[in-house]
Amino acid sequence: MSEKVLIATEKPFAESARNSMVKMFEEAGLKPVVLEKYKDPKDLVSAVSDVDAIIVRSDKVNKEVLDAGTKLKLVVRAGAGYDNVDCATAKARKVIVENTPGQNANAVAELAMGLMIMIARGKYSGKSGTELKGKKIGVQALGNVGKIVASLGRAFGMEVCAYDPFIDQCVFDDCCVGCITKIEDLYSTCDYISLHIPATPETIKSIDYQLLSKMKKGGTLINTARAEVIHEEDLLRIMEERPDIKYASDIAPKNVAAFTEKFADRVFFTPKKMGAQTAEANTNAGIAATQQIIAYFKEGRVVNQVNP
Ligand code: 3PG
Repeated sequence: MSEKVLIATEKPFAESARNSMVKMFEEAGLKPVVLEKYKDPKDLVSAVSDVDAIIVRSDKVNKEVLDAGTKLKLVVRAGAGYDNVDCATAKARKVIVENTPGQNANAVAELAMGLMIMIARGKYSGKSGTELKGKKIGVQALGNVGKIVASLGRAFGMEVCAYDPFIDQCVFDDCCVGCITKIEDLYSTCDYISLHIPATPETIKSIDYQLLSKMKKGGTLINTARAEVIHEEDLLRIMEERPDIKYASDIAPKNVAAFTEKFADRVFFTPKKMGAQTAEANTNAGIAATQQIIAYFKEGRVVNQVNP
């Protein structure tokens, strides 16, 4: 009997990416099922009940979903951040959770640069703006996305530095970026701060008043990581106190109206998380996820497990 694989995406992959994934599963002798643009999380709970594996994006794979997926062996997050998956419950149920690191990194990095330009040019309002060339960018976390942002920043003629306490000096050297060892220094010396940290218990709300108050005059915070890493109330407070600070984020804060009503010229939010929303990123991440599932069912290979 062939294994059933659910592709569950509230925010669908590009059609071409999804069609390629379906074809690959069929050719490998697996049975793909597609659940796209679902409105109610209960639809995912129902759809998971008889499948052996699922591919998701930011879709919430919580305890309820895992409880319903009694046949589940594998959850693949087609993307980098797996904060949407209850990895501990999955582990307790012996369900393997994998991600596809790096596959959508270029798309996210390009969006970060786009947000920087948008803010520098006064949100294309017609007002005179500024250029990125000659400005200093601070990359917070030098992972797959951060490295590309660093290289794009250099291509724009920016001075690039980064803060990442989890990697060796040689990575900074390879990327030709200055190593900042104190996070406050990143905030106090850079014109642009670009966030590339995951949402973890340690990072959630970690961008707080204490840090934000260190921001250089006229500084801009760019968030293509996760909304949750920002301490929203603290950001509101500092933006009240410091009319020079700007914020652009890929996905709006919870209290979006408080930001847009007070600081219309100084904030920009995408309507939906769209960093990875390109045909290329969808193809890379979707195909990688598909290959990982085929590798598991056909060869017993586990790739990029995040809940060992
Ligand atoms: C990721 O973690 O890979 C990105 O945030 C993309 O998420 P998405 O697949 O929900 O767009």
